[in-house]
Amino acid sequence: MKSITLLDLHKSFGATPVLRGIDLQVTAGEFIVFVGPSGCGKSTLLRLIAGLDDPDQGRILIGDREVTHLPPPQRGVAMVFQSYALYPHMNVRRNIAFGMTLARESADTIDRRVHEVAHMLKIDTLLDRLPRELSGGQRQRVAIARAVARRPEVCLFDEPLSNLDAALRAHTRVELTRMHEALGTTVVYVTHDQTEAMTLADRLVVLDGGSVRQIGSPAEVYRAPADLFVAGFFGSPPMNLLAATADAGLARLANGSVLPIPAASVTGPVTLGIRPDDLRRVPAGDAARATTTGLDGTVLRVEELGEARLIHVALTDHSVVMIRDRESTWPARGEAVRLHAPPAHWHVFDAGGRRL
Ligand SMILES: Nc1ncnc2c1ncn2[C@@H]1O[C@H](COP(=O)(O)OP(=O)(O)O)[C@@H](O)[C@H]1O
Ligand SMILES: [Mg+2]
Repeated sequence: MKSITLLDLHKSFGATPVLRGIDLQVTAGEFIVFVGPSGCGKSTLLRLIAGLDDPDQGRILIGDREVTHLPPPQRGVAMVFQSYALYPHMNVRRNIAFGMTLARESADTIDRRVHEVAHMLKIDTLLDRLPRELSGGQRQRVAIARAVARRPEVCLFDEPLSNLDAALRAHTRVELTRMHEALGTTVVYVTHDQTEAMTLADRLVVLDGGSVRQIGSPAEVYRAPADLFVAGFFGSPPMNLLAATADAGLARLANGSVLPIPAASVTGPVTLGIRPDDLRRVPAGDAARATTTGLDGTVLRVEELGEARLIHVALTDHSVVMIRDRESTWPARGEAVRLHAPPAHWHVFDAGGRRL
């Protein structure tokens, strides 16, 4: 396993800048995930690391070795794409062994590693089958096995689970995590899927428009999003965002509510964020209601989720907030409600969208 260092990487296609100065240090053995919306430059960044494209500016190191201008085979990386290309005329065993056969590994080594990765990815009963005799999920696991069997220093994955159905994606995520724990390979994994990113990553690199918005553990990124983009990207449904004006530790919302916020020294326009899970309903007629500052509104819609309900509430200024409600009773459409959250749960962003 090797570390990866990216220094001020820039890349444009024609006049369009796609990567605008990426700096990143990936620790050896880390599982790092590049996550962001479609078109934000994830695949381009991965291709630069693999050597499939050249940066316009900047440097790439794998371990201590500069690889910026080395061809892909000299970088010691393996890559798995969304569209896996297995050799159709070779059985699973030969597909997995292919790279090692080319590298003239001994028959014993090849046999041992094929069984090891096949066992890890639960394809050991499929070794004599041809790709056309496999399901999509099985084929994708063969493609992953083929990449990791060679024991690359670095493994690059570009949305490898996107073609799988939800259940199989969840299952294969677990296999990938187990495989990473067993092999300790440095993994760079690209996805636009927030759940995949959260569940797999040691650290997330959140990208938007060719720039890094935040680097951190999944918990850090979720609990303290660096800006409004990150705040809106993670969480389903996303964080509620409300325009407000801050003064001396209080925020006044457009609907007239005044809330204490965890940013005492800020004055002027801010955006308040609150996760649907962090809002509570203060029951009508509750004694606490008279003394609790909160958001007053009426229920627009109640969506049953099974383990909870998603309640859409229209505030008096007509903005809509969502709460994920786990109470045993719930309000009817049109009912007046007051929503409340402890001050520490509010996220506060400045006029430029940066977290305060
Ligand atoms: N070879 C290319 N030529 C021209 N534009 C490209 C090329 N590859 C990618 N792009 C553009 O660069 C941007 C980023 O692409 P990509 O890295 O594939 O994004 P992502 O993987 O995050 O969806 C997109 O706007 C895409 O259209
Ligand atoms: Mg892509």
